[in-house]
Amino acid sequence: MNNIERIKLNLRLQKLLSGIDGLYLGKRLMKTDPKNKKSKTKEEMLVELEEEVKNCKKCMLYKTKVKSVFGEGDPDTKLMFVGEGPGFEEDKQGRPFVGAAGELLTKIISAMGLTREKVYITNVVKCHPLRIPDPYLRNNDRPPTKQEIESCIPYLKKQIMIIRPRIICCLGSTAATVLTKKEEPISELRGKIFKYEEIPEIEIVPTYHPAALLRNPSLKPLVWKDMKLIMKILGLK
Ligand code: URA
Ligand code: SF4
Repeated sequence: MNNIERIKLNLRLQKLLSGIDGLYLGKRLMKTDPKNKKSKTKEEMLVELEEEVKNCKKCMLYKTKVKSVFGEGDPDTKLMFVGEGPGFEEDKQGRPFVGAAGELLTKIISAMGLTREKVYITNVVKCHPLRIPDPYLRNNDRPPTKQEIESCIPYLKKQIMIIRPRIICCLGSTAATVLTKKEEPISELRGKIFKYEEIPEIEIVPTYHPAALLRNPSLKPLVWKDMKLIMKILGLK
C-alpha cells in the first residue's frame, strides 16, 4: 500500500468509526466536506463527547453511577493510559485514577519525567461496575462485563481518534485484551508492542495494572521495564 492509499484508508476508517469527516492540521480538524465550513479543535470534540458520556444510558451502569469518568489530560499528548473502569473514588470525583491505584500511577508517570497533565488518562468503561448495586459501599468493584465493554467502547475509540497518541499504555488485562484483541494473559502481553488495528500508526504497550502492583510489589520492576520501553519509543530520557 502506498502512502496515499494509506491516508485514504485511514480517513475512511475515521469516518466509519466516528462520523468525524476530516483531517487534522495542527490542532484543528479541517473538514473535508466543503459544505461544512466549521472546524473543531480536539478540545471541543472531547467536550462534546464527554457530554454524550454524561447522558449515556447504553448499559445499566448509568443507573448506579454517581459520576461518569470520561478521562483527562493533554489532548495533544503522545502517551495515553487506559485502565479498566472507575472505582469507588473515581465514581465520586468523576476523575480517572484518583484512588490508591491512581496514586501509584501518578508516581509511575512522574518517574517517567512526565506529569498527569502531560499525558491522557482514561478507562475502557466510563461508569463504575459494582458487585452489589450500592455506590457508597467500599470494596464493591467488579470488572466490566463483555456487554458493558461493548456498549462503552465506541467512546474510547473516539477519544483515541481525536487525541491520536503515539502510544497507548494498557493498564491491566481488560484494556490490553480489548485494544490488542489478543486473548493471552497480561503476563504474556506486557512489554510487547502491538499495533492499534483502527489506526496502525498508534502502538499499544500493555503492562500490569497499578492495583496489581499494590497487591504484588514484585511486579514493579517489570512495569518499570515497560515504561522504559515506552520512553525509548517516545524519545524520552
Ligand atoms: N482502576 C481503573 O482501572 N481505573 C481507574 O480509573 C481507577 C482504578
Ligand atoms: Fe454508557 Fe459506558 Fe456508562 Fe455504560 S458504562 S452507561 S455505555 S458511559
